[in-house]
Amino acid sequence: MNTSFDSSELIHRQTRKHIQHNEPHYSSPSPTSPPKQTTNKIITNIPFILIGLTISSLFFYTFPLTKPYPTTHYPESSSSSSSLFSLPTRRILLEEPTTNTGGSGSGGGGGGIMTRVPGGVRGKRKRVVVTGGAGFVGSHLVDRLIERGDSVIVVDNMFTGRKDNLLHHIGNPNFELIRHDVVQPILLEVDQIYHLACPASPVYYKFNPTNVMGTLNMLGLAKRVGARFLLTSTSEVYGDPLQHPQAETYWGHVNPIGVRSCYDEGKRTAETLAMDYHRGAGIEVRIARIFNTYGPRMCLDDGRVVSNFVAQALRKEPLTVYGDGKQTRSFQYVSDLVEGLMRLMEGEHIGPFNLGNPGEFTMLELAQVVQETIDPNAKIEYRPNTEDDPHKRKPDISKAKELLGWQPTVSLREGLPRMVADFRQRLSGESKGSVSAA
Ligand SMILES: NC(=O)c1ccc[n+]([C@@H]2O[C@H](COP(=O)([O-])OP(=O)(O)OC[C@H]3O[C@@H](n4cnc5c(N)ncnc54)[C@H](O)[C@@H]3O)[C@@H](O)[C@H]2O)c1
Repeated sequence: MNTSFDSSELIHRQTRKHIQHNEPHYSSPSPTSPPKQTTNKIITNIPFILIGLTISSLFFYTFPLTKPYPTTHYPESSSSSSSLFSLPTRRILLEEPTTNTGGSGSGGGGGGIMTRVPGGVRGKRKRVVVTGGAGFVGSHLVDRLIERGDSVIVVDNMFTGRKDNLLHHIGNPNFELIRHDVVQPILLEVDQIYHLACPASPVYYKFNPTNVMGTLNMLGLAKRVGARFLLTSTSEVYGDPLQHPQAETYWGHVNPIGVRSCYDEGKRTAETLAMDYHRGAGIEVRIARIFNTYGPRMCLDDGRVVSNFVAQALRKEPLTVYGDGKQTRSFQYVSDLVEGLMRLMEGEHIGPFNLGNPGEFTMLELAQVVQETIDPNAKIEYRPNTEDDPHKRKPDISKAKELLGWQPTVSLREGLPRMVADFRQRLSGESKGSVSAA
C-alpha cells in the first residue's frame, strides 16, 4: 500500500516539477481551486480556438462536401486503346441543343454512360456530323440532311473533297464546315455521326491511312457523347469474291498485303472496331457496305472507272479499259445511296447492309453506255490489268430490301446523263458552284 502511494506521489511530484520547469510564467494550479484553473485555461486557449475555427471555415469553403452541379468528366484520350472499355463515367449534357463545344479535347476512346438531354427538351432537330462531307457522297448526304431540317457539321480535311461541293450551304445557320483531319480527335456535341472521311479512289487512298485511326477517333466521339455512328464501309471488304453475288454473310477473299489492302483491310478493321465498340461499350452503330457509286461532284480524275470513262469521252480521249474488260461491276446512282444511308441510320438494324445496284455490267458494256451517252466515236484502249482487280462484283441486296425497305431506283442509263452534265460543265471551266443529285 505504502509503496504504491509513494510511487504515485513520486510521479505527481515529477509532473509538477516538469510543469514548473517548462511553464515558469504561470503559477502552478492549486488542487483546492478548480474553477479558477478552468477559467485560466479557457482564457489561455482563446487565440488557438479562434485560429482553429478560421482554418476549418476556410477548408470547408474551399472543398465543399456536395457540389452544386453534376460534374462533367472528360475521359482519357481516344488514341489510347486501353481506354476502349474503360469504366463508365457519367456525363450530363447541359448545352443548348445546337451548341457544339468546339474542337478541343479528345475524341476519346474513354467516356461511358451518357445522360442525354431528353428529346422533348432538345427539340426535334438532329445535330449531325458528316465526316468527309465535302466529298462526292458526303456532299449529297449533307444536302438531304439540311433539306430535312437537321443541323449539320461537316468535318473534312479537303484531301479529295472540295468546298465547291458545299458552297450553296455557306451562310446557312444550320450548317458548319470544319477543316479537320479525323486522324486527330475532335469533340462535338452531336446526335448522329455519318463517318465517310476516307479517300475512296485508288489514286488517293494509298497515300492516306485514314480508315483505322479516323474510325477509332469517331467511335470514341460517339462513345463520349452517346451519338449513333454510321460507318461507310465498302464492297472491297469482299476482295476478289469467290461467292457471286455477294451477300453480307460472305466473309470475303482479300489479299492482306497487296496494293489495295490499305483500303480493303482498313475498312475491314473499321468494321471490326465499330462492332467492338458496339459490343464492348454499347455504342449504337450502323454499317453500310457501299458498292460502286457514281454521280455529279465525283472527282474528275480519281481513277474510278465511271469518272474515268466520262472525263475521257468528254476530253475526246480513248476510254482506257484494264485487262480484257470482262470484269463486272454494278453502278449505283448517288441519290439511291444517300437514301439507303439515311434509312440505315434511322432504322433499328446494325447491318452490315449491302447498298448497291444489282444491275451488273462488264467494263466493255459500261464503255458502250458512255459512248452512247457522250460520243459514239469514242475509242477504247486496252491496258494491262491492275493488281488484285476483282473479277466480279454484284451486291445481293435482299437484306436491305427486307429490313430497310430500300432498293435503287435510278438506272445507269438514267443516272449517267446527270453526271455527264456536271462533268461537262466542270471540264469546260463553267462550274459556278454545285449541282444537285436529283
Ligand atoms: N463512291 C463509292 O463508290 C464508294 C464505294 C464504297 C465505299 N465508299 C465510301 O464512301 C465514303 C465516301 O466516298 P466518296 O466517294 O464520297 O469519296 P471522296 O473521296 O469523294 O470523299 C471522301 C471525303 O473524305 C475526306 N477525307 C479524306 N481523308 C480525310 C481525313 N483524314 N480527315 C477528314 N476528311 C478526310 C476527303 O477530303 C473527301 O471530302 C468513303 O468512306 C468511301 O470509302 C464510296
